[in-house]
Amino acid sequence: MKLLILRTLVGPTRLRSTVHKASICSSALQWESGVSLVQGASRGIGLEFARQLLERNEKEHVIATCRNPDGATGLLELKRRFMERLYLLPLDVTNESTIEASANSIRERYGRLNLLINASGVLSIPDVLQPETTLTKVQKSSLMFAYEVNAVGPILVIKHMWPLLKAGGGSGTERDVAIVANLSARVGSIGDNRFGGWHSYRSSKSALNQLTKTISVEFARKDPIACILLHPGTVDTDLSKPFQRNVPDGKLFTKEFSVQKLLGIIDNVKIRDNGKFFAWDGQEIPW
Ligand SMILES: NC(=O)c1ccc[n+]([C@@H]2O[C@H](COP(=O)([O-])OP(=O)(O)OC[C@H]3O[C@@H](n4cnc5c(N)ncnc54)[C@H](OP(=O)(O)O)[C@@H]3O)[C@@H](O)[C@H]2O)c1
Repeated sequence: MKLLILRTLVGPTRLRSTVHKASICSSALQWESGVSLVQGASRGIGLEFARQLLERNEKEHVIATCRNPDGATGLLELKRRFMERLYLLPLDVTNESTIEASANSIRERYGRLNLLINASGVLSIPDVLQPETTLTKVQKSSLMFAYEVNAVGPILVIKHMWPLLKAGGGSGTERDVAIVANLSARVGSIGDNRFGGWHSYRSSKSALNQLTKTISVEFARKDPIACILLHPGTVDTDLSKPFQRNVPDGKLFTKEFSVQKLLGIIDNVKIRDNGKFFAWDGQEIPW
């Protein structure tokens, strides 16, 4: 009825443009603050990123993806607290159609992204991926699996989200660039490799580093997007659980501490940081 009255008043052509302008205005207002995507948010560091982004700024909108949102208890709890500002989507980095579907949903709902955090990753899965202690234990299947999840997956996520990445910050930041932050690991550094071992995990993170660096070179030519790599330190999560007994005192971080540090880095990223590999304390890590 309202539409009919409006049509009579302004005519069909002007109506279309009036409705269009109104919807642009409302979506611009609705998303006046930052829109961030945390990929790999079911648990661990990714879940903590989603929590901190939502808690620290009451205007921030967060899209959290994981393989099975219905079974992600921590994320569902967060959803109950931040009903309006948290949007959950299913995404498996080994299934490109789920990445594409997520990008389409984000485009329709928000139209843009200011921050993309790729937090998913695997180090060990019983009978699938064992961190190797010697060359004799290296298996083709483990190498390929780690490469698919840790290197190929995040890069496909960036490929599909690229058209949505727009400058601007939200989160009380002064960011003048869009940011892509990939969770890497110090063990992916070739220059820093002093102990050997963990062939699959190490090399998959080295590949992620090289792919991220390569993307950063293209972004530098085409778009104001800073693409960085982050080492979170050794953090108390499911991923590190089987290896925590070897961690020196005071070197096993809580998720809260690590993510606070990493968000501090993200908030201060400038375009000149595009293509850099940072540790949790802001120090650059050699390739
Ligand atoms: N914790 C550390 O000490 C440490 C140190 C250095 C680097 N990192 C890096 O930090 C990142 C986060 O690690 P974390 O400690 O938080 O690990 P985590 O607690 O084991 O969580 C790993 C996350 O990756 C997701 N994931 C696994 N396979 C996936 C797939 N195919 N598609 C989409 N998501 C998938 C998991 O989802 P599901 O729940 O569906 O399995 C989960 O959300 C990883 O990239 C890791 O390599 C961690």
